[in-house]
Amino acid sequence: MSHKVSLTGKTRLLGIIGHPVKGSLSPRMQNAALRHHGIDALYLPFEIPPSALAGVMKALPALNFRGLNVTIPYKEKVLRYLDEVTEEARQLGAVNCILVDKGRLLGYNTDGAGFTTALKAEGGLSLRDENILILGAGGAAKAIAFHVARQGCRRICIANRTVSRASSLRRRLQRFHPGVEIEVSGLSGRNFREAVASSQVLVNTTSVGMARRDPSIVPGRHLSPSHLVVDIVYKPLRTPLLRAAERSGARFLNGLGMLLYQGALAFRIWTGRTAPVDVMKRALRSAPEIRP
Ligand code: ATR
Repeated sequence: MSHKVSLTGKTRLLGIIGHPVKGSLSPRMQNAALRHHGIDALYLPFEIPPSALAGVMKALPALNFRGLNVTIPYKEKVLRYLDEVTEEARQLGAVNCILVDKGRLLGYNTDGAGFTTALKAEGGLSLRDENILILGAGGAAKAIAFHVARQGCRRICIANRTVSRASSLRRRLQRFHPGVEIEVSGLSGRNFREAVASSQVLVNTTSVGMARRDPSIVPGRHLSPSHLVVDIVYKPLRTPLLRAAERSGARFLNGLGMLLYQGALAFRIWTGRTAPVDVMKRALRSAPEIRP
């Protein structure tokens, strides 16, 4: 069922803050979900320059906000304005979702859970006892690594161009999850090839593949039908890595699933209602921004 939006004196606000946010698909997906449930709320994109962040955060309760998504470059910077954060967000030191409740600001991170939920829903795979290779060691890699460690996967290998960055992510992860086996490597060489061969799931969190001429971050000859290959990028939908996976007979998923499920989890936090994932998925797929 879909309801018309009618703005009332009580309309709650939701939105995404970042710099830039103009390409965000979240408004399209979240407004479709709000309309579906007939919820009197509106989700908007807010382009916030760094100098305005403090003022924005302080004004949220007075402006009748129910919540926010937070994207680059504010996932770490918003922490200091929050009254409480979940254990996972505290360990990560990053928040992508804020709930405004009775004047208090509560921080969550739904990125990692969005990834594992997408893997289960669309790849039919739970990570328990699997080996995962994470390509990259930035913010997205960190959120995924912490969440899969909580899920009890067997081994995590973090492969990054700058190996020292992968090593510092390993140290942080190992501090909170001493029972998980964690390895690091560069993006080529024997260790890397062995990590690819012994992993069931490969996930690319780097920006390699977003530009038209980029190569596949893992050469196709290293991939096989036993792999599930995920690229968290969704522009383009079919990255060079996913094309290489397809040619090698591997299963593959693009980044729309992670975007969808992190948003579905946020919707639930703000509204207490089950997110209409099919409605949200249709809204994403019809976005002109992601058409090839
Ligand atoms: P995000 O928060 O989106 O994860 P980030 O923190 O800027 O973004 O991290 C970007 C990731 O992409 C890093 O792992 C980066 O590798 P380095 O740590 O070596 O910089 C990786 N990356 C970016 N451009 C790359 C390239 N041309 N080749 C390989 N890795 C690249």
